[in-house]
Amino acid sequence: MKLENDLLLRAANGEKTERTPVWVMRQAGRILKEYRAVRGKLSGFIELVQTPDLAAEVTIQPVDILGVDAAIIFSDILVVPEAMGLPYTMEEGVGPFFPKTVKSETDLNKLKTADEDSLGYVIDAIKVTKKELNGRVPLIGFAGAPWTIFCYMIEGKGSKTFSNARKSLYKDPAFAHKLLDKIADSTINYLKGQISAGADIVQVFDSWAGILPTEQYDNFSLKYISKIANAITEVPVIVFAKGAYGSRKTIGEIDCDVVGLDWNMDIVESRDLIGPRKTLQGNLDPATLYADFNTIKSETRKMIDQFGKSRHIANLGHGVYPDMDVEKVKCFIDEVKEYSSNL
Ligand code: CP3
Repeated sequence: MKLENDLLLRAANGEKTERTPVWVMRQAGRILKEYRAVRGKLSGFIELVQTPDLAAEVTIQPVDILGVDAAIIFSDILVVPEAMGLPYTMEEGVGPFFPKTVKSETDLNKLKTADEDSLGYVIDAIKVTKKELNGRVPLIGFAGAPWTIFCYMIEGKGSKTFSNARKSLYKDPAFAHKLLDKIADSTINYLKGQISAGADIVQVFDSWAGILPTEQYDNFSLKYISKIANAITEVPVIVFAKGAYGSRKTIGEIDCDVVGLDWNMDIVESRDLIGPRKTLQGNLDPATLYADFNTIKSETRKMIDQFGKSRHIANLGHGVYPDMDVEKVKCFIDEVKEYSSNL
């Protein structure tokens, strides 16, 4: 089906656009009262993720309410470990928890490689969403990067340091590579399933990129992101590696179309390191949205001036925070649209 608004896809492919497309990481779920109303009818987050009609409804809410140029499927990066044999729970106000983690080679050997149909509920949610979006905007599919998923599979929950995961890179690098490769293969299959179901573009989130030194990051994370980017040939690929300052040049050499920048990555320096052939995504400091409306507008304009009019997808430098005012998020989105239309 032809899309009514394909700005995001054209920008990802490096084509000219009338204005800069904009969406917001974690736009579905965190800030909308309409989301909480839907979620309140169920036992919790996981049931919502596993109910395709309702997952589709909350995926589309930000398109209607915020006016973003793309929807991102409502799910979580932690469904991949689940598909591999490690189910999780989501504790209200605490975060994810895995009763079983990967502690040994035996545990690793017991894990499955997820296939294209392992996460049927996500695939069904994508199909329903595509139907209901009816071509209004593109749909973004996503997965966690193998390194970030590895962190949760080893640690079993969130952590400030992920020191058990980091320990394993020093103690048993062969084991780490074997697990990372199994996650990468599962992720490739999962993303291909999302694409077959209708995802128009996919993003790989490496939320814990920033905790590794550069050499280890290239060796234990980028290697597998690169494997994924090489395998996904059907649609554009966005790589968002939060905190991977030392690896921006190397990320620029990966076979992806878009590189996400976090808010600490200098825009001009990043463009220089990454080169002219990738689209950049980002990177307003999310905390800017705590400021007054005029500050949000002027900081947004400053960001757009630095990126320039082409090869840019506007976004925050990481996800929107749960306590942010919807009107402030809208102010950012509206300013991107208005200011970039007149450039
Ligand atoms: O972007 C979107 O709006 C689509 C949905 C989406 C969710 N999680 C829904 C969610 C996406 C893209 C994610 C990605 C995700 N999940 C990441 C990578 C992005 C990032 O922020 O760095 C990570 C690290 C996770 C793991 C995760 N999921 C954590 C640590 C938590 C608890 C804290 C939090 O973020 O709220 C979750 C839960 C989660 N995932 C919620 C939502 C809407 C909140 C659950 C609830 O409604 O109670």
